[in-house]
Amino acid sequence: MRLDRSAVERVDRENMLKLLMEFPDQCREAYKLGLSAELPPRFREARCVVITGMGGSAIGGDLIRCALRGTATVPIIVNRHYRLPSFVDERTLVVGSSYSGNTEETLEAFDEALRRGAMCVAITSGGKLAEMADRAEVPLIKIPQGYPPRAALGYTSIPVLAALVRLGFAPNFDLAGQLEEALKVLEGMGGELNPDVEENPAKEIALKLHGRLPIIYASQDLEAVAIRWKGQMSENSKSLAYVGILPEMNHNEIEGWRHPEGLLSSLHIVMIRDPGDHERVQMRMEITKGIVKEHADGVTEVYPRGKGELAKLLSLIYLGDFVSLYLAALNGEDPTPVERIGVLKKKLAEGGEWPKSLE
Ligand code: PA5
Repeated sequence: MRLDRSAVERVDRENMLKLLMEFPDQCREAYKLGLSAELPPRFREARCVVITGMGGSAIGGDLIRCALRGTATVPIIVNRHYRLPSFVDERTLVVGSSYSGNTEETLEAFDEALRRGAMCVAITSGGKLAEMADRAEVPLIKIPQGYPPRAALGYTSIPVLAALVRLGFAPNFDLAGQLEEALKVLEGMGGELNPDVEENPAKEIALKLHGRLPIIYASQDLEAVAIRWKGQMSENSKSLAYVGILPEMNHNEIEGWRHPEGLLSSLHIVMIRDPGDHERVQMRMEITKGIVKEHADGVTEVYPRGKGELAKLLSLIYLGDFVSLYLAALNGEDPTPVERIGVLKKKLAEGGEWPKSLE
């Protein structure tokens, strides 16, 4: 199948491609929101940051924790749950992140953060989370409505990243410089990865992954990228994918590459490489590749662009987003609707007691 513009347009009825092409502009707008957010100076005293959210909103938290891994002066934790860890108290900064503002896990965790007296910030396009923030008179970063949550990654990550940098939690992270580099890289990539370009790495990868189960391996420093690739393949391409992280997978999963025998040749490995990775991790990637490639369908290695953490993370994420769009076209699936997520949310809303405090 030729993966040209008409092949994409045939499935892409709600125009995910447009959102993808506009992603650099979205990041630019998101940065302005982050700079103008009003944050109480006492938030600088937080000893830990917890970003609580789910799915397409939580991935923004992963991007932030990976970007600041080498510079943050406090731990940054992403919480994907109804409950908060027990250490969350009045010295913890809790960011409640829900694109829709109506995700029950996030609402319950945010409510708990407010009750524990944590320093709270909400980021959302509206919904109950916005109401909770207003009622509690805590800072609210309001982002535009009308996006599928996962396509609003710029809005759900960059304002919070900017807020954390402004509060002094990463004094050596030059956000303005990093963002400028990242945007230049992303704009260049948009020109190379769009459907009109025939010789296109995103198309090549999608063709390799079609009919296969992608196994995405990345170092711990690039975990956000691997999680995003998996999420985008699931939601956009309606296709399963699996994530493994190095060095950890070398201590267990590597032994699993023997069974089920009949399945291994349907697995295609995507190795997220980075010449900046710990040198022993790079060596481990090479050795791992040698071991698993005998069993798997094949190995595809992808590399980041740029020098800063943000350019590296976003360039790999952007590549994965395009791959998921082409894979959607190959699967004959519309990348935008997420019917099952909607069914689940509806059934939960119908079947369960809603906590009184969140009404
Ligand atoms: O991409 C999606 O639609 C989901 O992963 C949602 O992001 C997830 O269900 C959480 O919803 P929200 O981002 O609105 O909090």
